[in-house]
Amino acid sequence: MAKKMIQRPRGTKDILPKEQIYFKNVEKTFSETVEKAGFSKITFPTFEDAKLFNRSIGKDTDVIEKEMYTFSDKSGNLLALRPEGTASVMRAYIENGMQSWSQPVKLYYFGPFFRYDRPQAGRYREFFQFGLEVIGDNNPLVDASLIATAWRIYKKLNIENLTIELNSIGCGTCRPKYEKLLKSYYQDQKGACKDCLRRLKTKPIRVLDCKNEKCLMIQHDAPQLINNLCSSCHDHFKTVLEYLDELEIPYQLNPKIVRGLDYYTNTVFEIWNQKEKAQNSLGGGGRYDGLAEILGSSKKTGIGFAGGVERVIDEIKKEEIEVSEQKKIDVFVAQLGDKARKKCFRLLNDLLDAGIGVETRFDRGGIGDQLRIASNLGVAYTLLIGQREAFDETVIIKEMDSGNQEIFPYEKIVREMQKRLKK
Ligand code: HAM
Repeated sequence: MAKKMIQRPRGTKDILPKEQIYFKNVEKTFSETVEKAGFSKITFPTFEDAKLFNRSIGKDTDVIEKEMYTFSDKSGNLLALRPEGTASVMRAYIENGMQSWSQPVKLYYFGPFFRYDRPQAGRYREFFQFGLEVIGDNNPLVDASLIATAWRIYKKLNIENLTIELNSIGCGTCRPKYEKLLKSYYQDQKGACKDCLRRLKTKPIRVLDCKNEKCLMIQHDAPQLINNLCSSCHDHFKTVLEYLDELEIPYQLNPKIVRGLDYYTNTVFEIWNQKEKAQNSLGGGGRYDGLAEILGSSKKTGIGFAGGVERVIDEIKKEEIEVSEQKKIDVFVAQLGDKARKKCFRLLNDLLDAGIGVETRFDRGGIGDQLRIASNLGVAYTLLIGQREAFDETVIIKEMDSGNQEIFPYEKIVREMQKRLKK
């Protein structure tokens, strides 16, 4: 009996060569944009001590309750595949003594993250994020600069029709007071869903992003956190808005942006497609001034942002944005006969050593067949070696556009191609 085929796990994907151009384009545009704004790259482990995420993201969040991949290794350590990057970056900041570097420390990352989410369009169990973190400065100018940098990434990718949905969720002083107000408002309402009733006990502000129809009606007249911020949070947020206005960055104030991770304080935002709204946010972030202390360090303020690569790529495809890649193959090497094949094998490697992109098909014998492949590849030149050229130690250069052919001695061919291709 034939064995059952092994398939990739649900919610994961193979990124095939044709798709790679999109990933490369996002990574390149992202890294070039943020490096110009003074960010340096950090790479951190794909798995960490599970406690890192339990403590920083918060145990009553969806990510920790339902979505984190945790496992024990052979020594019994409880580890987790990283569901996001902020906790790891803060851990790395503390662990590597970045407190002693010139502040703020501005870091960026690009890579895979893991969440046991219900797979659907734009929602995977392994997905890529591009992310930014600025640690060590809580000036509102830093918030506005980070939002401007995030916005610039989407602009550089030529994605239009996006909005920045912005809110402030206050600090450890004003938020608990507001949550009391919110709870007493909900006590007088009827019909809130089971999830919201539970959230009111664990993480009250999360009731504000419930999508249940009844709950949406209740939310409508709920007291707003933005009207209940303490004076320092109010002033901070007001200044962030003034700086964004200065740059003419478009944003919508949205009291429902409360974010799903516990570490957030003050400024929070998401990038949405204008039409689809919150369905699949293309990115999100915010300030996390209490995170370092949660991780056992002294207070260090921070703000960051992460975008979803697959969702950005979906948007690029939907908006039919052209994504081009520089051609890598400049030359096709064609051969006729056994002796020529050996010479061509050497020519191929001599050209590659010289930095020239080469393709060949040793499985094809007919010259017509090989020229057709060369023309499909769009190469500028085909280099031909037949029995005679193999014997004479020569190579024919065929210019594909004009069809012109010239014969060159083998030992001059690499130099000649470098000259013609400006390599
Ligand atoms: P997040 O909102 O959980 O924030 O994720 C950021 C982005 O990752 C989302 O807006 C979305 O585009 C993408 N994303 C999340 N889950 C999935 C999924 N299952 N499939 C596909 N894409 C997904 C964070 O992760 C924070 N660490 C961002 C941050 C950085 N805050 C401060 N610094």
